Amino acid sequence: MRYLTIALSKGRLADMTIELLEKIGIDCSEYRNASRKLIFTDESNKIKFFLVKPADVPTYVEYGAADMGVVGKDTLLEEGRHLYEVLNLGFAACRMVVAGPAELADKMDSLNNKRVATKYPRVAREYFEHKRRESIEVIKLNGSVELAPLVGLSEVIVDIVESGRTLKDNGLVVLDTIADISARVVVNRVSMKMENDRINGIIDQLRKLL
Ligand code: PRP
Repeated sequence: MRYLTIALSKGRLADMTIELLEKIGIDCSEYRNASRKLIFTDESNKIKFFLVKPADVPTYVEYGAADMGVVGKDTLLEEGRHLYEVLNLGFAACRMVVAGPAELADKMDSLNNKRVATKYPRVAREYFEHKRRESIEVIKLNGSVELAPLVGLSEVIVDIVESGRTLKDNGLVVLDTIADISARVVVNRVSMKMENDRINGIIDQLRKLL
């Protein structure tokens, strides 16, 4: 039997995913050994796990280097890869929002030609240009996005909000919600056919657990 391969998003998401996989009887003891290895194996179930940056999970799965993956919906929206999204795991829940200073709250119609700072340029463009039919300038940042409106880099931001604390502590408010975000199971399109029984077996067990 060939190994089934699963790409995990390094960090908190991988920790939470591993807990779930252990509950359905997959041996993740190699992961627990806290080495710097990037591949872990469950020999009894013939499963290999890859640990990769969250943004790279859809890439591994689309190309078939991994049969399955677990990744945040924010990453899926941003990467726009061709794969099957088969299960919402519900954890790592947050929202993708447009946020900015409170004085813009009733002026959402006047965001045309505004600058939008974000880690998610594709999501921002999709929302403003296709949904709202407004043209914007996207400024790609790599973190601490809330700073941008405070120092005049942009008028608004597109970012994920979990507790809302970062926005609040920086005097910003949610202007609109773009999407609900949480961890999703994704599957390579060919693997879904070739390894249908094993993949569906795992998905069914995970679904029961949720
Ligand atoms: C994320 C996100 C927000 C913050 C939201 O940033 O980009 O800045 O968390 O969480 P909250 O609503 O609970 O405050 P992250 O912590 O990943 O750091 P980053 O800014 O460096 O990307």
